[in-house]
Amino acid sequence: MKASAKAPANIAFIKYWGKADETLRLPLNDSLSMNLTGAHTITTVEFDPALIEDSVDIIGGEFSEHEKARVIKGLTRIRERAGSELRARVVTKNTFPKGAGSAASASGFAALTMAGFAALGTVLSEKEQTIFARLGSGSACRSIPDGFAVWEKGTDSQSSYAYSLHPADYWDIRDILVIVDKRMKKVSTTDGMERVTTSPKLAARLNAVPRRMAVIREALEKKDFALFGSVTEEDCLDMHAVMQSQVPPLRYWSPVTQRIMAHVVRLRAEGIPVYFTIDAGPNVHIICVGNDEPRVAESVMKLPGIEEIIYNKPARGAHIVSTHLF
Ligand code: DP6
Repeated sequence: MKASAKAPANIAFIKYWGKADETLRLPLNDSLSMNLTGAHTITTVEFDPALIEDSVDIIGGEFSEHEKARVIKGLTRIRERAGSELRARVVTKNTFPKGAGSAASASGFAALTMAGFAALGTVLSEKEQTIFARLGSGSACRSIPDGFAVWEKGTDSQSSYAYSLHPADYWDIRDILVIVDKRMKKVSTTDGMERVTTSPKLAARLNAVPRRMAVIREALEKKDFALFGSVTEEDCLDMHAVMQSQVPPLRYWSPVTQRIMAHVVRLRAEGIPVYFTIDAGPNVHIICVGNDEPRVAESVMKLPGIEEIIYNKPARGAHIVSTHLF
């Protein structure tokens, strides 16, 4: 009745921003991401007949009432699918700052889904697990499969799922995650996305994404890093253009964010193939190939305003672990 799972955060190269269905978390577009070795969530779930209500705790932090309610909703979906009425104790732990735009909800709901079903002894296909993770947080579906994952937007709940395009050891690329602000972001992704249709730039982005998905798949297939990096940066800037042109505008970048972006462009002008991508927060993911990581890290480290650097390689997806948090 007790199980634990470890799930990685993921960084999207072609991003999810906007929902076609808010309740089902069906996205407006396909997306593609890579799981991260340096940022993950471990979650232990125990269903216990002695419990009269669910309890949800995070080690080294605190959940808001809203976050707790979201986790309990996830437990309720798991119970309904598994045919159980038992209440659960959930304890979770992140290796990175929650809410700092580092996809804590992605690794969190991926780990909860996997541990929750395992704790009830219910075996689900990977596809179905990605669907349940998606219902908790859209991007969480991409933290279930290994390595580089695609999330097909689909047209209904069953057709909106994620799968692995390439395993983690397919390509040695790195994500140097530069944390510039560990505090919770002011506007959550869920709230921010609700107003996506107020952006006059949304239609153009949705029009461009299918081509970008094709390009990035081709870049991955050929291991063409310049093509891969440029389409990644293009989609990041486009998503932020949509965010910034929403009403009210969403501006996630800080002056330090912009300094790091400029630094990446400068390194590229000096001949180092390096690109950036940024989620719904001020932190910057610097993407390069394995051989270049030391020299990129060395130069980035010297920039002022950096709180922490997390080094990531492509990671496997969510999986069951034998050590429990309680
Ligand atoms: C900018 O998956 O956190 O990181 O479905 O509302 O929980 P909800 O949103 P979430 O959004 C992630 C948005 C993003 C881009 C991405 O990861 O694709």
